[in-house]
Amino acid sequence: MRKSVAQIQEETRTSELKRSLGPWNLVFLGIGCIIGAGIFVRTGNAAALHAGPAVLISYAIAGVICAFAGLCYAELASTLPVSGSAYTYSYATIGEFAAWVMGALLLLEYGLAASVVAVGWSGYVVSLLADFGLHIPAALTGPTGHHLQMDGVDVLVNGAPIVYLFNLPAFLVCSALAILLVVGVSESAKFNNAIVAIKVTVLVAFILVGGFIILSNLPAYTPNWDPFIPPPTGEKGEFGWSGILRAASIVFFAYIGFEAVSTAGQEAKDPGKDMPFGIIGSLVACTIIYILVSIVLTLIVPYKSLNVPDPVAVAVDAFGPQWAWFAKTIKVGAIIGLTSVILVLMYGQTRIFYTMARDGLLPKVFSSVHPKFRTPWINTMVVGLAVACAAGFFDINFLGDATSVGTLAAFGIVCLTVIWLRRTHPDIKRGYRVPLYPVLPALGILSCFALIFTVENRVLIFFGWYVVAAIALYFIYGMHNSELAKGHPVDSDGQLPVYPEDAPRDESGKPIIRP
Ligand code: ALA
Repeated sequence: MRKSVAQIQEETRTSELKRSLGPWNLVFLGIGCIIGAGIFVRTGNAAALHAGPAVLISYAIAGVICAFAGLCYAELASTLPVSGSAYTYSYATIGEFAAWVMGALLLLEYGLAASVVAVGWSGYVVSLLADFGLHIPAALTGPTGHHLQMDGVDVLVNGAPIVYLFNLPAFLVCSALAILLVVGVSESAKFNNAIVAIKVTVLVAFILVGGFIILSNLPAYTPNWDPFIPPPTGEKGEFGWSGILRAASIVFFAYIGFEAVSTAGQEAKDPGKDMPFGIIGSLVACTIIYILVSIVLTLIVPYKSLNVPDPVAVAVDAFGPQWAWFAKTIKVGAIIGLTSVILVLMYGQTRIFYTMARDGLLPKVFSSVHPKFRTPWINTMVVGLAVACAAGFFDINFLGDATSVGTLAAFGIVCLTVIWLRRTHPDIKRGYRVPLYPVLPALGILSCFALIFTVENRVLIFFGWYVVAAIALYFIYGMHNSELAKGHPVDSDGQLPVYPEDAPRDESGKPIIRP
């Protein structure tokens, strides 16, 4: 079962959305979704426990892998420029089963990623409040059952470790943002640009001030880069080259979100040119920023001290007491930036569930729209609660690795989809074609799947069972309830699915096809 390519191109041709986004708008759109907990939080763990200063090589590797996938996204988005996602692309090309699996992977990429960012948000909030003398009880600030640690050692109070009950701030921020989404708050392009400006300014200021401090007394800092690649400990993924690769799978998280550019297909002025520019432009900009931030981080403090919830703030503390105000500014900037990323990711997740429910692959309740707010409210509350619980109970390393693995698998399938579509539909109009076909998509598939196997075994085992459960659910539920499989319903032109009366519509009254 698959939606026809012609059907999707027709959906696009008749789209009423205004083509108002130029190439730089698309770059900003990408950066808005990309910069988040990856650079502000996960870099610390990747450097401290896996790659040392060589984490910047990890960033370069992850950036190149994303570029392979990014170019494939650009080709698909210019061929099937619905405001969709990898789910839609799979549905139109490989078929319904692949779309279902993709839906399950996107739940990791968006839903789980939102919880990772929420845990990062909590780290910066707890730290900022502490700067103002407000202390949230330690037991309410971390993943259930874990111990509060400092530099990898348990903190003891009266001889006993502090055991976390729950990450309350992370739970609360997800719940609050879910409520905002129910009442219909979503980001406008102007708002997105403001958030991008804040995030980029904070990071560029960090690079400039840190770079100036380092350059003015270089010999004091270079010992932190000695050795640049710490020798392997013998454990897989701990330093040496295996550590650099493990760190690449961790910081891969920092690039997630660039595909948001491809969802703007119907609004791009010249999708064939602007989409690859937006995707690759935002990836290149973020790679440069990430590598420069990593250089400053690992020169200014010994990499071992970066395994904290707020590594960028820890590095600013090392700038000296006269920069205390700057540490607070960084934390505020990070909190604002992370809030918007949680919002965007949860929004994306609800819209994927919405589309899947309309296709009959999820229960209809996921596409039911609130009569007043015109949002998929039950869907949003379910997503909000699930994301809040994941953020409240689980540790960021597990959540982050699971997100990376799910996303790598999704990107691998996207690269495969390009090859599939070229073989099955060689002659359809493509606004953009990946260069060096089929080498580039093949490299994309290979590198995504290779990186998956660098993560911890517990994450691989979780992922294996997750995929098995998802496949089983398709045969138990999805296959029997799919609208396409039932052969109905279609509307008057015999092509497009009929949309429910209560489906959200744009100003002209046309159903929003891929919200
Ligand atoms: N790339 C996004 C982040 O780092 C998901 O938060």
